[in-house]
Amino acid sequence: MSDKLIEVTEKEGVVRLTLNRPKALNALNSDLIAELNKVLVDLEQRDDLRAVLITGAGEKSFVAGADISEMRDKTPEEARVFASQALTTVKRLERLPVPVVALVNGFCLGGGCELALACDWAIASDNAIFGQPEVGLGVIPGFGGTQRLPRRVGPALALDLITTGRKIDAAEALRIGLVNRVVSAGELDAVAEELTKQFAGNGRQAIRSAKQAIHDGMDQDLDSALALETSLFALGFAGEEQSEGMGAFVEKRKPNF
Ligand code: CAA
Repeated sequence: MSDKLIEVTEKEGVVRLTLNRPKALNALNSDLIAELNKVLVDLEQRDDLRAVLITGAGEKSFVAGADISEMRDKTPEEARVFASQALTTVKRLERLPVPVVALVNGFCLGGGCELALACDWAIASDNAIFGQPEVGLGVIPGFGGTQRLPRRVGPALALDLITTGRKIDAAEALRIGLVNRVVSAGELDAVAEELTKQFAGNGRQAIRSAKQAIHDGMDQDLDSALALETSLFALGFAGEEQSEGMGAFVEKRKPNF
């Protein structure tokens, strides 16, 4: 692994981002957040992407939270700037038009859990540990946890996890819907590959539209969200994917997207 804060590799349109501060369990400091933001701005420009994977360097941790040593002496104003920059970056990751998959290979705490919550998919290794321990540090989650966690697991469980700061294992994370799958650490890459192959077998624009409908729709009232779905459904009939996908079904062959 190089000394870059974010290691970027790519295979067949699948970009893998490895957050690389293993000695600090990949804690998110300002430099790492700025670097991630830069990488995401570049990815936003590309229309040839299939998926983005995000993981942590080393065998122990996905991300153990925001960097506590850096935050320790911040003023309220500096804390606001720090959180705002992180929120912008996390939202960028969330809104990439392709599926974003967190490969949670160990500690997934505080800002790390908030990063995973912004991903469309989370696959955890069976040794992963999740939690929002911020109240134990005298603060609240600041990278989106008070908003995305209740949307993901419901307000009662989010209040439980955030007010106790308790840590949960991968099996509990799966049970409450915080992650999609749990596998052994050695299987993470193979499962990610299998998943991205499934994405690749489907219409690329259809996946983008589905993601847009879900994300934008969640922030709207039901009628507006359903109208958005109808528009995006109709838009699908303007592209080549729909004729290929439906044509392949009728002609009893595999679609070639
Ligand atoms: N910030 C800065 N450094 C961190 C860190 C963090 N969040 N988490 C771990 N590290 C550093 C440790 O200080 C240690 O560094 P040194 O070797 O220089 O002492 C190194 O990573 C290894 O950590 P430990 O020795 O503590 O490893 P461990 O296996 O004994 O414990 C752990 C692992 C349980 C994850 C423990 O490190 C820990 O509790 N980390 C903090 C977790 C946390 O509270 N996260 C929330 C941060 S606040 C936040 O994220 C706010 C927000 O919403 C924006």
